Order: sequence, then C-alpha cells, then structure tokens
Amino acid sequence: MNQNALEENSTDQILIGLKMRAIEYDHYGDASVMHVADHPTPQRLRGQLLIQVLASSVNPIDYRFRRGDMKILIPFGFPRIPGYDVAGIVVESDRDSSFSIGDRVMAFLDHTRGGALADFAACTDSCAAKIPDSMSMEDAAAIPLAGTTALQSLRDHGKIKRGQSVLINGASGGVGMFAVQIAKFYGCHVDAIASGGNREFCLSLGADHFYDYEKDDFTNSKEQWDIIFDVAGKAHFLKSRAVLKDGGHFISTEPDIKGLLMTILTWPLSKSGQVMLAVPSGDDLRELIQLYNLGKLQVTIDSRFTFEHAAQAHRRIEAGVDRGKVVLTNVGNG
Ligand SMILES: NC(=O)c1ccc[n+]([C@@H]2O[C@H](COP(=O)([O-])OP(=O)(O)OC[C@H]3O[C@@H](n4cnc5c(N)ncnc54)[C@H](OP(=O)(O)O)[C@@H]3O)[C@@H](O)[C@H]2O)c1
Repeated sequence: MNQNALEENSTDQILIGLKMRAIEYDHYGDASVMHVADHPTPQRLRGQLLIQVLASSVNPIDYRFRRGDMKILIPFGFPRIPGYDVAGIVVESDRDSSFSIGDRVMAFLDHTRGGALADFAACTDSCAAKIPDSMSMEDAAAIPLAGTTALQSLRDHGKIKRGQSVLINGASGGVGMFAVQIAKFYGCHVDAIASGGNREFCLSLGADHFYDYEKDDFTNSKEQWDIIFDVAGKAHFLKSRAVLKDGGHFISTEPDIKGLLMTILTWPLSKSGQVMLAVPSGDDLRELIQLYNLGKLQVTIDSRFTFEHAAQAHRRIEAGVDRGKVVLTNVGNG
C-alpha cells in the first residue's frame, strides 16, 4: 500500500514521536531489574490499534521471559516492556476499523515481546475486543492471555463436548479458574486439583469434585477422564494415560522438549497428549466476554498493584498466588 492510501485509511497518528512512561528492563534478572523509564510511544501500523493502557495483569510467562528462561525462543534485545494483557481505551485506529477512538477494549498483545506495562500499546485489530460498560478495566485485564489459554486448550485441543468428564490440574490460578468455568459452561463433569486451601474456591467455581495435590495423586484414581488439562505443567502424560479414557486428550501448557515429543509421538494414538501455545484472537476474547455477560465467567483477583509496583506483582506470582489473577493498574493513565 502506498503512503497516500495508508494515510487515507488511518486516523491521524497523533502520538508519533512522543515519549510515554513504561515499565522496562535492560537485562535479565530478578524482579528488581524492572524500572520506570521514558520510552517512545509505539508506532501503530496499518491494521493496528493504539490503546491507552489502563490496566494489565501478570502471567507466569512474564517472569519467565524476565529471568531469561526463554531467551533461546525469544532472543531480541533490550529494553523490554513486559506484559501481554491490556485493558484500556482506543486512541488510534484505521478509519475502516471496526474499532473507534474511545472504545473500551481488552487485548491479548500479539507482539512476541509483550509491551503491556506502558502508557500505550499497539496490537493488531484482530487481537482485541470491545468490552461492555459493565466490565471493569481490572476484570478486562485479567482475562485475555489466561482466558484464551483455557478456552483454546479445552475447545481446540481437548475437543470438549457436553457430558464429558474433565480434570483441571491447577484449577485455582489464572488459567485454571477460567478452565473450570468454561468446562462447566460446556456441560461437563469437572474435577479440580489445587492445594487444600483452595478446595472451597474451586468448588465455588463450579467444580464437582476436588483433589488436593498434596494428599492425592490423581493418576492413582479409579476415575477416568475424557480431558486432562495439566494447567500447572506438573503431571506426566505416561503416568496419566491410565486415567485417560480411550479417545481422550491430555493437554499441557508446558512448551518444553518433552511436551513437543509427546505431541508428535502420540497424535495418532487413541489417547493423545498435546502441548498448547495460546494464540491471540479477538474472536476468542469475544467468546469469553459473552460468557462473562451471561454470568458464566467470573473473575477473581488475587491482588492489585500499580504499574510502578510491577516488581512486587511479579514476585507475588512467582511465589504462587493464593487464587486467581494478579492485576496491575496504570494510575498515571487513570
Ligand atoms: N502454553 C501457553 O500458551 C501458556 C499460556 C498460559 C499459561 N501457561 C503456563 O501455565 C501455567 C499456569 O499458569 P497460571 O497463570 O494459571 O499460573 P498460576 O496463576 O500461578 O496458577 C498455578 C496453578 O497451579 C497449581 N499448582 C501448583 N503446584 C501444583 C501441583 N504440584 N500440582 C497441581 N497443581 C499445582 C496452583 O494451585 P495452588 O495455588 O493451590 O498451589 C494454581 O492453581 C504456567 O506454567 C504458565 O507458564 C502456558
């Protein structure tokens, strides 16, 4: 597309060249490497939105990148702005976009480097969704990455069907709490696993039965499941096979070599194992928002921090949340 066409189709890029505040880090390390810095406002490309970020949330991937655990997968350079979850207001869009300036939105950022903990973030239109007035920015920030992971794991990888039995291993955290509710929405019998202190929480999400991983090993159970969703990445496919029904699916969130081998070697078998990687999708966000509107997807917030206290938020999730999501608010933009 030539420059004229681009300009005709875009709203003015009013923020180009301006500086914004961001949380960034210049080298790998513990949470203390994150600091507030001035950063160029992202330049929105054709097909993208520029969002004024009001809230975000922390996912384990954020601290894994920050520590350098995945530098082989995502090399690039520094500085880096962490975060994939965005809730905020559209400030720039294409003229023919389905989004308008002023729309309240949530987005799962599609840039591999993240970029949510900043005054502004850019993402492709197709990775964002409008949110209803009834949804708080905090709830909207909690949903994108974790909710998408839960939905895609059960629907796309697990091929979930009404009446099936589903086991969620790691049911009380960010992904697990959404997975339990989504599986219940699909009309499944849901068993939840977490530490004993989260029994009541998991049952309140709709789980039919609870296992305490500190006391029970589900692989020794007499039960069998159609879907075993290993959210926590702590289970083993080979040990879990005995409690997986024929035609059943074991889904892991751990994209390591073992997981990749499991995916390749077991796909033709009647009991298959797959490692999943969440893919940003506005359609999936809209599906999650629909469940929220129906009262079928509640958001539990473990703790709240401001962007300036991102280091504390990372420490909180690294140490293990009590339950639900860790949310960050950008008070400078509020
Ligand atoms: N592949 C992908 O695209 C993708 C996407 C999102 C997340 N993930 C991965 O998924 C994992 C979970 O993410 P999250 O956001 O849900 O994390 P989280 O909020 O920290 O939750 C972790 C959950 O695991 C449970 N847990 C801890 N130890 C366990 C054990 N030994 N057995 C069973 N459950 C155990 C916790 O229960 P208690 O608190 O009761 O101990 C909690 O319910 C992370 O490793 C993350 O990196 C991958």
